[in-house]
Amino acid sequence: MKLFIDTANPAAIKDMMELGVLDGVTTNPTLVSRENRPFMEVMLEIAKLVEGRPVNIELVTEGVDNMVKEAKEYAQLADNFVMKVPMSKDGLVVVNRLAVEGIQTNVTLTFSPAQALLASKAGANYVSPFVGRLDDISHYGMELVGQIVNIFDNYAIDTEVIVASIRNPLHVLEAAMMGADIATIPPKVVEQLTEHPLTHIGIEKFKEDYKKIPKK
Ligand code: E4P
Repeated sequence: MKLFIDTANPAAIKDMMELGVLDGVTTNPTLVSRENRPFMEVMLEIAKLVEGRPVNIELVTEGVDNMVKEAKEYAQLADNFVMKVPMSKDGLVVVNRLAVEGIQTNVTLTFSPAQALLASKAGANYVSPFVGRLDDISHYGMELVGQIVNIFDNYAIDTEVIVASIRNPLHVLEAAMMGADIATIPPKVVEQLTEHPLTHIGIEKFKEDYKKIPKK
């Protein structure tokens, strides 16, 4: 399973890169707004930082023609930009038009398996089911991932499933068990994934015991 980081914070992206486990980046307007810098300045910094890996940039205009224009402009600025297209009828038209142009898309804000199936048929390279937001309204978000993976397997669909809106390490574990292609993980959960209380206890014990070994 590929691991993306779900942030627009360059320092957090660098940290995950140093671990040697970073395959790409997802952003959205909420995440970029936390950086308190101009949108494109942040996005271009990230695109350069992770060169060669996909960087998901959200389309924010409305209407098919505007979104296609916006996507084409972004595509000129960095060749690793993937356009995040919000799921809707217009969004599917945009995906279809961009696919013809060879511009990569990720259909975002996906909350049902039927939406994911349509996105794949329209030509999306990626589809993003939002598991945490479903959990937040007392639906089992990971069930959606299982359904999408199952449908895509049934028909050998090559659209990649990005498990998004991840809130905890269990989401990542379940994503891997279900065969999702990608998990996009917030920095806090990346930290949590590296830790285990028994690892910590074990390290302390070995340090203590090392001190007991006679020097000569
Ligand atoms: C990533 O592509 C999504 O925009 C992100 O995971 C949404 O996460 P949230 O539900 O925590 O805002």
